[in-house]
Amino acid sequence: MNPMQAFDFSGKSVLVTGGSDGIGYGVARAFLAAGASVSITGTREAGAYEQDFSGLGFIRLDVSDAASVAALAGQFAALDVLVNCVGTVLYKGQEFERAGFARVLEINLTGVMDVCAQLQPALAARRGAIINLDSVVAEQAARNNPAYSASKIGLKHLNKVLAIKWGRQGIRVNGIGPGFVPTKLTANQAGNHDAVAARLPLGRIGTPEDIAGVALFLASPLAGYVTGQSLLVDGGLTLLGAL
Ligand SMILES: NC(=O)c1ccc[n+]([C@@H]2O[C@H](COP(=O)([O-])OP(=O)(O)OC[C@H]3O[C@@H](n4cnc5c(N)ncnc54)[C@H](OP(=O)(O)O)[C@@H]3O)[C@@H](O)[C@H]2O)c1
Repeated sequence: MNPMQAFDFSGKSVLVTGGSDGIGYGVARAFLAAGASVSITGTREAGAYEQDFSGLGFIRLDVSDAASVAALAGQFAALDVLVNCVGTVLYKGQEFERAGFARVLEINLTGVMDVCAQLQPALAARRGAIINLDSVVAEQAARNNPAYSASKIGLKHLNKVLAIKWGRQGIRVNGIGPGFVPTKLTANQAGNHDAVAARLPLGRIGTPEDIAGVALFLASPLAGYVTGQSLLVDGGLTLLGAL
């Protein structure tokens, strides 16, 4: 295969959950640029966002609501690529409380599993690829975020199980573990960009485009024999030891 053709997603249907903002928005834009038909989801109405959604289909989704996930799945009879960028985190000790812990698990792990399960028939129809966003905290625990950390290591193992279960249907299931990418999820660390960059082997913090490039690869035929894996895209952050 001509490697360049592997990144031509013309005629492919791509869904990026959590594509309304941050990393997911960058991933969605990259698949759009590669020729795909791309749908994104966000928790609010499309008009509530500052981002330019031109060229993208928008679907409202709350993954903690089973009916919302079922309605999403009902819109896809066939799907080539599912990228789950949905994610949330709670600060100020809320994840140490039962309600906060449960909320983060419900969105980051149960919600992502529900999306995968509900869209499995559509993905099987196209021998499609799933990419679930985990995190460097799946490698190195984050001391203030027990639920976020647990959800992300949980996703990595979920990917392996789904890869085994759905492999014979041609569905590949992989993950990407970003390092530090400034988004609203990481807004509480807004003052630390230069300090983080200075510590990183590659000397800069990450961008949604850094993650999008690897998503394109994992969704492409070039990664056709890769399943159940998660690829760290962290500028070398996890080479350093403690986060
Ligand atoms: N940024 C980083 O440094 C970093 C590092 C490691 C891993 N990650 C992971 O990368 C993924 C994307 O994160 P991000 O930094 O791009 O965060 P973000 O900008 O906050 O985007 C999160 C996305 O998830 C959606 N979302 C939140 N709660 C939801 C719910 N209940 N139902 C459905 N959608 C929901 C948001 O919708 P709204 O826009 O409507 O709120 C948004 O589209 C997450 O899985 C995150 O854990 C990020």
